[in-house]
Parts: sequence; C-alpha cells; structure tokens
Amino acid sequence: MLFSQSMNAAINAQIGREFGASLQYVSIASYFDRESLPQLASHFYRQADEERDHAMRFVHFVNDAGGHVRIPAVPEPQPDFASAEEAVQLALKWEETVTRQINDLVDLALKENDHISKSFLDWFVTEQLEEVSSMDTLLNTIRRAGPLGLLFVEAYIARGNKQAAANEASA
Ligand SMILES: [Fe+2]
Ligand SMILES: [Fe+2]
Repeated sequence: MLFSQSMNAAINAQIGREFGASLQYVSIASYFDRESLPQLASHFYRQADEERDHAMRFVHFVNDAGGHVRIPAVPEPQPDFASAEEAVQLALKWEETVTRQINDLVDLALKENDHISKSFLDWFVTEQLEEVSSMDTLLNTIRRAGPLGLLFVEAYIARGNKQAAANEASA
C-alpha cells in the first residue's frame, strides 16, 4: 500500500463528501428546475457531475495506491430553498468547507511525508480555488440582480455555458 491507513480512511471520508456535494447540487438544480430557471438548473446539474468526477478521482487513487475504498453513508441533501440566493449561498458554503477539508488532507500528507498523496491532492487545491471563486461570482451576480432580476442571471449563465461549450469543442 502506497499510503497510510489513516490517509486511506481520510480519503474514504472525502469520497463520501464529494458524493454528498454531488447530491446537494442535484437537489439545488431541481429547485431551479421547479422555479423555471433552466440555465441555473443546468449549471448545477453540471456541477453535480463534476462532484461525482471528484469522488471517482479519489476512488481510482485509493485503488491505484493499493488501499481499500469504503464509501460512508451520505446524508440527505437540503431539499428546499427560500430563494435562489439561499441555494447558491449554501453551495458557496459547501465549497469553502470542502476547501478546508482538502487542506486538512494536504496537511496529513505533509505530516506523513506522503509525496504520492500530496502530488495527487495538488489538483484539488487548484480546483477549489476555481470552484470557490466562480461560486462567489455567481452569488454576487444573483444578489446584484435581486429576486426580480433572475432572468438577467439566466442570460449571464447562458453566455458562460456557450463559452464553456466552445472551449470544450476547441479542446
Ligand atoms: Fe469537489
Ligand atoms: Fe466543488
């Protein structure tokens, strides 16, 4: 095994939290679907897929390193939101928490002189910077638009989605 039992256990806990984030984002996307805000909905369905990818990256890492994947029970995501702002605020808080959890994993890797895990975790450190920053921008956009301006937010996200599709096509 290329890492310690405690690193294996810590990563298993993170696998649960990444799946938990995925379910929470499906729940947020569904709220936006109910509110007839399709761009916000598809944005969060895409985030949900990304969180599942994060969980699977950890799964493959544990298996490659000769560890044992144990997926913990995932708590029920919050199903209802009073407003778009509340839903995105929850997502931002979630991303900030995950950033601290990734930092804790890096701390553990450093403490154990575990360069294999440290190098694997570096990708997540960079990813969290991107995720917190883009969620923060979305929250500010929603706040500036106000409850009656959500259609502006839809147009704003549609532009971002078009850009993301163009980037994918040229990649
Ligand atoms: Fe994630
Ligand atoms: Fe995330």
